Amino acid sequence: MTAFDLAVIGTGPGGYVCAIRAAQLGMKVAVIEKRSSHGGTCLNIGCIPSKALLHASELYAESKHSFARMGIRAETSVDFPRMMAFKQEAIDGNTRGIDFLFKKNKITVFHGEGAIAAAGMVKVGGEVIAAKHIVIATGSDSARLKGIEVDEERIVSSTGALSLAVVPARLIVIGAGVIGLELGSVYARLGSKVTVVEYLDRILPGMDLEVAKAFQRILQKQGFAFKLSSKVTSARNDGGKVTLSVEGAAGGAAEQMEADVVLVAIGRVPFTKGLGLDAAGVKLDERGRIVVDPRFATTAPGIYAIGDVVRGPMLAHKAEDEGIAVAEILAGQAGHVNYDVIPGVVYTAPEVAAVGKTEEELKSSGIDYKAGKFLFLANGRAKANQTTDGFVKILADAKTDRVLGVHIVGPMAGELIHEAAVLMEFGGSAEDLARTCHAHPTLSEAIKEAAQAVSGRAIHS
Ligand code: FAD
Ligand code: NAI
Repeated sequence: MTAFDLAVIGTGPGGYVCAIRAAQLGMKVAVIEKRSSHGGTCLNIGCIPSKALLHASELYAESKHSFARMGIRAETSVDFPRMMAFKQEAIDGNTRGIDFLFKKNKITVFHGEGAIAAAGMVKVGGEVIAAKHIVIATGSDSARLKGIEVDEERIVSSTGALSLAVVPARLIVIGAGVIGLELGSVYARLGSKVTVVEYLDRILPGMDLEVAKAFQRILQKQGFAFKLSSKVTSARNDGGKVTLSVEGAAGGAAEQMEADVVLVAIGRVPFTKGLGLDAAGVKLDERGRIVVDPRFATTAPGIYAIGDVVRGPMLAHKAEDEGIAVAEILAGQAGHVNYDVIPGVVYTAPEVAAVGKTEEELKSSGIDYKAGKFLFLANGRAKANQTTDGFVKILADAKTDRVLGVHIVGPMAGELIHEAAVLMEFGGSAEDLARTCHAHPTLSEAIKEAAQAVSGRAIHS
């Protein structure tokens, strides 16, 4: 039996990054992965394929809606199988990169389903691996809706939606969260009539409400239809189409809605099946997440957990940062994740991005704040590019001026947000941002002007 310093179960963004960081710190590392390729949900059926399809479909939409007014003449049409092949190339390129990194860092790979056999022992297939430390990074799975059976053809999870054979004429999305709006955008751009059914009275719960409302209006202009405060109570899948029964969130008369494809995107649940956690003494919380302390230690000695399978936002970069932190902690260093500064991005057009507290969170915790807002409509670069939908909103502590939250809906929001993240990591103020020279003409100037607006002195509004 080979003995390792660390065995990591699952090679998604949490697990593979943890393994590499631990190897960098001199540990002898094994990884166990049941999928044939590494990278987990993110690289195989999540972040990467969805962004490849978002990119391709956005360029197509641009060709249809923006080229002519820029004086570009082009006849474009969609070769959907080729677009899906483009997506697969993105997956393969990224997952192969991890094979390379594992070899480079001398990490031993075991393929198969891992389970905790005993303290310091992981079973995979017929083999038992001994390891001083075990990190569980088994991620999450799509949440299912009671009474609605996902066949991944007509009624799909995000996985099926990333691999449809044809563009559906009518797509109903259940859940106005990140997956629903990103994948809904892909198909809306390719020609589907997209209707989103959401249980709550708003889209994107958790995001700043003003941003969510503005974003909903933008999506409606793009052709999205929303049915908020509504719940799907049953689905009839006759192989040719799906008929949904939909009623108000509080009940009432049911309405029938027909679609060619239904995407169920109502959240994700931690994946812990078959790991032998109960016998190993690893406790779960009421939502099925592995309980960890601030050092990522579970309730069983020598066993740690990170990523989607533990508390916190289910995001790839959060999983990665936890992977680095736990490897450093195991090496005797001070690994740490600042959960107050984890950006979130919705990769639609325009993008939505946020870091820190929303206005609703500040109000409910009684924190006195000032808000500065700047519209892209008044930003020179956005005007030149004719991408003027949206705004930047900065929330700063009323007394200290420290930036507490930044919310953007607008062009390149997912890139712009990192300026705010770095500032907040260093405890910066709105004044610091307002006095930092920003190149002209850039979209980033909208952040500077929103910071000026915190003290009522934006130049262009
Ligand atoms: P995972 O990536 O889920 O990896 C877990 C791995 O463990 C898997 O490879 C699994 O096969 C393996 N595994 C499970 N059990 C065992 C076992 N017993 N033995 C061996 N192996 C096992 N996040 C973002 O930040 N940005 C995005 O743009 C984004 N887009 C997304 C789009 C979609 C459609 C989806 C579904 C998710 C998206 N996410 C995005 C979320 C992101 O994918 C997850 O937060 C991230 O993958 C979590 O990483 P993880 O390492 O915790 O788990
Ligand atoms: P989500 O939690 O973002 O949104 C789910 C939505 O479904 C919510 O609006 C919720 O109110 C609604 N809902 C729940 N039950 C419902 C019901 N019965 N009927 C109607 N609506 C219902 O979850 P989603 O979109 O499935 O994504 C899962 C996770 O994956 C996200 O939370 C995020 O962490 C991650 N992700 C991140 C991305 C990114 O960072 N760009 C992209 C895609 C996924």
